[in-house]
Amino acid sequence: MSLLPARRRPATALLLCTVVLALTGSAATAPEPAAAPSAAVLPYQDASLPVPDRVDDLLSRMTLDDKLGQMTQIEKDALVPQSDLATYRIGSVLSGGDSTVSPNNARTWADTYDSLQRTALATPLGIPMIYGIDAVHGHNAVRGATLFPHNIGLGATRDPALVQRIGRAVAEEMSGTGIDWDFAPCLCVARNDRWGRTYESFGETPGLASDMATFVTGLQGETLGAGPASVLATAKHYLGDGGTTGGVDQGDTELSEAELRAVHLPPFREAVRRGVGAVMLSYSSWNGVKSHAHEYLVTDVLKGELGFGGFVVSDWAAVDQLDGQSGFTGAEIRTAVAAGVDMVMVPHDYKKFLSLLRGEVTAGRIPQSRIDDANRRILTKKFELGLFERPFTDRSYTSTVGSAAHRALARDAVRASQVLLKNDGGILPLAKSAKVFVAGKSADDIGNQSGGWTVGWQGRSGPVTDGTTILQGIRAAVTDPSRVTYDRYGNGIDSNYSAAVAVVGETPYAEGKGDRPGGMGLDQEDLQTLARLKASGVPVVTVLVSGRPLDITAQLPDWKALLAAWLPGTEGAGVSDVLFGDHAPTGRLPVSWMSSASQQPVNEGDGKTPLFPYGHGLTYAGTEPDPTPTPTPTPTPTPTPTPSPTQDECTAQFRTTSSWQGGYQAEITVRNAGSAPLTGWSVDWDLAGATITSLWNGSLTTAQGRAVVGNAAFNGSLLPGATTSFGFTANGTAGTPAVHCTGS
Ligand code: GLC
Repeated sequence: MSLLPARRRPATALLLCTVVLALTGSAATAPEPAAAPSAAVLPYQDASLPVPDRVDDLLSRMTLDDKLGQMTQIEKDALVPQSDLATYRIGSVLSGGDSTVSPNNARTWADTYDSLQRTALATPLGIPMIYGIDAVHGHNAVRGATLFPHNIGLGATRDPALVQRIGRAVAEEMSGTGIDWDFAPCLCVARNDRWGRTYESFGETPGLASDMATFVTGLQGETLGAGPASVLATAKHYLGDGGTTGGVDQGDTELSEAELRAVHLPPFREAVRRGVGAVMLSYSSWNGVKSHAHEYLVTDVLKGELGFGGFVVSDWAAVDQLDGQSGFTGAEIRTAVAAGVDMVMVPHDYKKFLSLLRGEVTAGRIPQSRIDDANRRILTKKFELGLFERPFTDRSYTSTVGSAAHRALARDAVRASQVLLKNDGGILPLAKSAKVFVAGKSADDIGNQSGGWTVGWQGRSGPVTDGTTILQGIRAAVTDPSRVTYDRYGNGIDSNYSAAVAVVGETPYAEGKGDRPGGMGLDQEDLQTLARLKASGVPVVTVLVSGRPLDITAQLPDWKALLAAWLPGTEGAGVSDVLFGDHAPTGRLPVSWMSSASQQPVNEGDGKTPLFPYGHGLTYAGTEPDPTPTPTPTPTPTPTPTPSPTQDECTAQFRTTSSWQGGYQAEITVRNAGSAPLTGWSVDWDLAGATITSLWNGSLTTAQGRAVVGNAAFNGSLLPGATTSFGFTANGTAGTPAVHCTGS
């Protein structure tokens, strides 16, 4: 029997329940209130009061244990017994990647959430818990939920409004299970595709990741908690997770502050501007210092300079990593909390954590003011989210989980994410009357097409959830399904087919398990399948299901067409919509496509020549988007001529940032010294025999011993007085070259 009906109830009922529960100490036996009497509520329970006033009142009533509990987030499966949620005043529960319920369906998740919430409310102050989960491409922990393309595919759409609509759909499906906090979006800027989390990134430029921060607004609404099904969003992982050397997950991001700020900070600035409620820190380090210990980045930059008013949550057991030893200590907790962590994702040994945290506070090593600041931040979001007024699942949204409307939206997103990289002879779109042979391990595998974070942390191949495979989409698209033959390995193909569609690529992975420090080519099964198709002489169309570009240069000449499908999720028909021309491909590469694995990292403007550049994408002949119609010129007054910037109106300053035997790293800061905005710039200097080995935030050409670096797409515009920078490493000695800037 639920003490409260599943639908959300007003605060007075919550207060009554709180008092009853406090007396009985249990949610199980208290009688359901006949009606919510108009009991006098305490100020923090009065929704008509401003949130800051409610926070002040509640803080004044909280004990130290109440406050420490609010800073504690634990894994659902670690909570034994469930009453510990109340006993230890724990403020947040999460489901990590492999945490689930049985049976795994929306209703069971909602029942689990409500049961935990009832327990959390069974405390003298009745502070509701907040429940976090990684709904990173749909509500992916829930079997039957709609799974959208992973972020790399959404980046290929270049459609922030679509991404916002997807955020809204995810929020509705989450709300239908009660869960009110999404550890998403990842606003990582993936700079090295070896990284196992490349697919969680919207792309390699700060501009693209910033554009897609619309996901925050989709989840939260224009104002957190103001509308229905509002879910707390999390910008993650702060800061520089996608910029580690070698693309090593949880590695070291070795960049100057200018580069870190130029490449990795802008998406977080945009998320803060959009009112993101939480920020999750990165496991990675910046120049050797762990983000979870970085007071300058977390407190000074994120909370101070960017004005982030939400709360900072650690990553899963990330505090344990700070001293390089297993487990966590009071010193590590102190370091993280002092750096600016407000809530610790412990996630298991909450008793030890609370004991150590209490010890640090009572010993004066963590000031009470830091505890109060963390609580103020956390409670502010709980009040804004409406948790005190609406603590339980809104069951009116449960039916949205996996709904036809959401699946239709996902199919649209799949279509828009497809990037056509090659289409020799216009073999695509295929005729629906064609006799087609389909092969490849990912043609009929919803697990492969969904990737990691799918009904389990790592995801897995096979029928892991409900949806449409790419093969099922193909069979539904053609006029006569009997003319579609499928064999995973390509066995049985002969010359009677007009085309062979090979759906190949990667099997699911997540985080560091997806790091690829070595080769980045196709696996043996795919190569053998492709060889069989090639031997038949039938034209091959390759559909690549992967979380990143793969090293396919050697195979490309054997393919008439290549379609990057990324990780489309449950709606595989979106791929066949493009293959058969129901939707012309419009996607554009969100990351540069390497010509070989040894080229990594390869990014726009670094002077390297990728196989396919960032932004590349073909469409079908005759379907090119109409050029913007030339507007009828309207007579305009002759404008006062704006002085065009001249060479001396931008300046460049050279600085050696590090040097070693036979080489050095340098940074050049470009400044608009004029009075007119710059739309672009280039800097040149005499290399004096040095050879540039890598360059970022600009595009390099060299001629007659001189280097010329032009702006990248994201840093060309400079208002008067504004600066940007680019950096490079080089063989040879640095010296202090005379650098010249030309503005445009
Ligand atoms: C992880 C991930 C993070 C996720 C968290 C909770 O290890 O780094 O993205 O939100 O655990 O599952």
